[in-house]
Amino acid sequence: MTKLLITGGAGFIGSNFVHYTVKNKPEYEITVIDKLTYAGNKDSLATILDKITFVEGDICDRELMDTLIKDTDIVVHFAAESHNDNSLREPWPFVETNIIGTYTILEAVRAHGKRLHHISTDEVFGDLELDDPNRFTESTPYNPSSPYSSTKAGSDMLVRAWIRSFGINATISNCSNNYGPYQHIEKFIPRQITNILSDIKPKLYGTGEQVRDWIHVDDHNAAVHLILEKGTLGETYIIGADNDHVNNKMVIELICELMGKGKDWYEHVNDRPGHDLRYAMDSSKLRTELGWEPRYTDNQTGMRDGLLQTIEWYTNNQSWWKADKDSVEASYAKQGQ
Ligand code: NAD
Ligand code: TYD
Repeated sequence: MTKLLITGGAGFIGSNFVHYTVKNKPEYEITVIDKLTYAGNKDSLATILDKITFVEGDICDRELMDTLIKDTDIVVHFAAESHNDNSLREPWPFVETNIIGTYTILEAVRAHGKRLHHISTDEVFGDLELDDPNRFTESTPYNPSSPYSSTKAGSDMLVRAWIRSFGINATISNCSNNYGPYQHIEKFIPRQITNILSDIKPKLYGTGEQVRDWIHVDDHNAAVHLILEKGTLGETYIIGADNDHVNNKMVIELICELMGKGKDWYEHVNDRPGHDLRYAMDSSKLRTELGWEPRYTDNQTGMRDGLLQTIEWYTNNQSWWKADKDSVEASYAKQGQ
């Protein structure tokens, strides 16, 4: 058995990764380390808690990370503060977890000679103009806009430096916006689905022309497993599902339609300060070198099947999100959003 330490495994992508691994990769013995911040939810792992070891703790805790990493083979590092809107309200937790937390993991990985895969985002590249046909590649220079993306960029830079300076065995992936089950309802897609389920109109920031290159979380996690199995050490891989023709307005209209509302049953709210316009990812390296293909694709928006599955999940799992709904909406309402 290969021992896998998954940081942030009670969060959105991390918990889906744990489920995916338990189901499809019996060769791994899994330990999750998670601080259970507002974004972490142990209930996301409830059905598989007997198949994994769960440690509640902070990735900035040097002693704890040293002990856990000494006793593992591979670290997959998802833990982060992940929400742009929160980073505009209160940046410090982003600096602490994303930068100091990653540093702490790197030092333990270096001390014990372990393999690391670092999970990152397309947002480190900044944004493109709405009419710019280019896509981000592995060699696009970093140009982050927000406290969230700049601290993720900082964490990537640390990993790159530890690879080059200390020769650690690490890979990095930068993925576009994910959607799917277990995503916190502060985020765009689950916020709108749970709004409709609560009889609240969905909220579109500004004009809604902004483009996110949406990918289903299982497609992201399948790519991470491929990188663990076949990726070249020291390399970075871009992960994206070619949905850069879909803007926020189209997504909100599709959600309204799929949930039986009129296409325009939503309202425009205040825009986000410094709102990134367009993200678009060129995942050719992952596709040609490692043979990855997304499974959630369709001809219309590339998202219909994945959104249907996600809507079904939030409809059938209301106890997972109901308790947070009022406070999330109250906090957005203060910003006119
Ligand atoms: P999330 O906010 O849903 O989950 C983050 C998890 O990390 C939570 O369980 C939280 O409790 C935990 N955590 C936070 N601080 C911690 C600390 N100091 N110590 C231990 N655990 C801590 O985030 P997510 O959307 O699942 O994102 C996971 C990773 O993927 C992040 O690194 C993020 O930058 C990256 N990413 C996310 C997206 C996306 O669309 N959500 C896209 C690309 C990359
Ligand atoms: P979000 O899910 O916060 O992800 P990110 O900031 O990492 O891209 O937002 C996705 C897009 O949706 C972004 O352009 C902001 C927009 N948005 C809305 O229009 N309405 C909302 O209620 C939220 C939360 C986001």
